[in-house]
Amino acid sequence: MRYSVIIPAAGSGSRMGAAIPKVFLRLSTVVGEPSIIQKTVEIFALDPECERVVVCVNREWRARFNDELQGVPKVVLVDGGETRQDSVRCGVEALISLVAEPLHAKSCVLVHDAARCCLPTDVVRRVVDGVYEHGAVTAAVTVPDALSIVTDGVVRSSVDRGNVWAIQTPQGFWLDELRLAHLAANADGFVALDDASIVARAREVRVVEGDRRNIKVTHPQDLAVAVQMCREG
Ligand code: C5P
Repeated sequence: MRYSVIIPAAGSGSRMGAAIPKVFLRLSTVVGEPSIIQKTVEIFALDPECERVVVCVNREWRARFNDELQGVPKVVLVDGGETRQDSVRCGVEALISLVAEPLHAKSCVLVHDAARCCLPTDVVRRVVDGVYEHGAVTAAVTVPDALSIVTDGVVRSSVDRGNVWAIQTPQGFWLDELRLAHLAANADGFVALDDASIVARAREVRVVEGDRRNIKVTHPQDLAVAVQMCREG
């Protein structure tokens, strides 16, 4: 089951508090250990079913991305945008120009956050299979915690966690549907943190089982957790 992937990687990673974008951080101080972006990109670049890896980058850091991903097959660098949503839209347009016209409707595209570098390959398989079966899917996991609505620091009501899933990436779509959904969101001023929310305005997006190891490295303490999660993966 062939597919391409768009990896938004143009964020500053300000919550990480590092001087460089977080995707350049290494998972260990051991010399030769890969950076977050190298690990994430290689998950897809080394998969024989993956045809293209479009990485959306911050223009100011393009040279560094080039260095980090030198020699990794299938990689295309694209300038990202102001927000994650803008970056994915740039990636979609780049991919559209790489895929021959009659194939837009039949091209499976995944979107995966650069900062989720411990993604197990069986989740990739479930998402790709899910696209071919259902057309639009996202990886997600159930939530073990009790959930409440809190305003002004006060618990107001509880949420039935039976209906709540924590949404992960990869998310998978047909390329033409993802493109149309992004163009419509942009035209309507609809803003979302992920692509499933954007595509869900137009069609059903199904959930497939994600993985608790598939964390998004966001805060400094996540680095140590990611080292452990990647080891287990
Ligand atoms: O900020 P957050 O961690 O939610 O970002 C999710 C992903 O989106 C990250 O991989 C980040 O690099 C990417 N991003 C982007 N362009 C932006 C902002 C974030 O590609 N302008």
